[in-house]
Amino acid sequence: MRSTTILAPAKLNLYLELLGKRPDGYHELETVMVAINRFDRVRVTRTDHPDRTIACRWSPSLGAWQQQLRRVPTAATAAMPPSRVDVDPLLHLPSGRDNLAFRAAEQLCQATGWDGGFMIELEKTIPAGAGLGGASSDAAAVLRGLAALLPKPPQAVLLRELAAELGSDVPFFLGPPAHTDAAAPRQSAVALATGRGERLRFVPRRGALPLVVAFPPQSLSTARVYGNCTLPAKPLSPAPILSALAAGNQRRIAACQTNRLAKPARELAPFIHRLLQTMRAIGLHQPQMTGSGSACFAHAENPRVARWAARRLQARGFGVSFAATPCPLPTPLQ
Ligand code: C5P
Repeated sequence: MRSTTILAPAKLNLYLELLGKRPDGYHELETVMVAINRFDRVRVTRTDHPDRTIACRWSPSLGAWQQQLRRVPTAATAAMPPSRVDVDPLLHLPSGRDNLAFRAAEQLCQATGWDGGFMIELEKTIPAGAGLGGASSDAAAVLRGLAALLPKPPQAVLLRELAAELGSDVPFFLGPPAHTDAAAPRQSAVALATGRGERLRFVPRRGALPLVVAFPPQSLSTARVYGNCTLPAKPLSPAPILSALAAGNQRRIAACQTNRLAKPARELAPFIHRLLQTMRAIGLHQPQMTGSGSACFAHAENPRVARWAARRLQARGFGVSFAATPCPLPTPLQ
């Protein structure tokens, strides 16, 4: 039996613009994603018996998460009394083949002809249905971890193909390619993703980027948010935010942010509006929803202010709030 443990980071979409709808039902988009230092712990074991299993739990405990999510934002209670906020669906963790991480392992086994067993253990700290990429990151971590344990390690290109089949955000979490593009950074936290999100160009980033992330007690289905969106007549360009990231200018990064999915998500989840307002009210800058929501993030002056702001948000009922900063992703087989 051999095991490996990988820390699977969350991501934020600093920029997300829709370009069109494709015949396969997906949307063509341009998005700038940044990996952040909030991690699920993913342990992958290659077993000596043929059983294939997955066990998931919330860290530090389900009870702690239930308690944090039940602190309902006070000003929102008129619109949605606490009794109507059922936190348990937010904390449902899919088991077996319903879990993307399990399917990632199965597909890698199938593609490499490995017919042995595996055991996956997930300790979750990334909220689900939040636009933070938790499930996608866990799946990428399983691909990385199991790849390192197989008797004949697969090529990075196979991992990328499997990642793209598993979901639009999974390839991002495999990190920059090891060798194909000499100009690409060897480790990077930021990528411009195109296509349905699976085509990636990792880009340089400088400077500190102290952020605060919060998860309102309401999750959103990616498919529902996309189903509720309107395509722009004239899409924006990611060039300004990419140049602000390269220059390390936080003020400009914040000013260039956008998310075309924010409006349809706000219509589906009223807590998002309340969270954005609260972030602004406590002095955070340029609050924005990430991905298809429902988590939001905002900029702080420095890491100390970010930690203070996370505590303020908790006190105001947004129990799952934390300070975050970019963290580089290694290449797929690192
Ligand atoms: O790729 P993933 O499985 O994460 O996407 C979930 C759903 O979100 C898709 O079935 C699709 O309805 C929608 N989606 C989309 N355009 C994208 C990504 C996702 O319409 N670029």
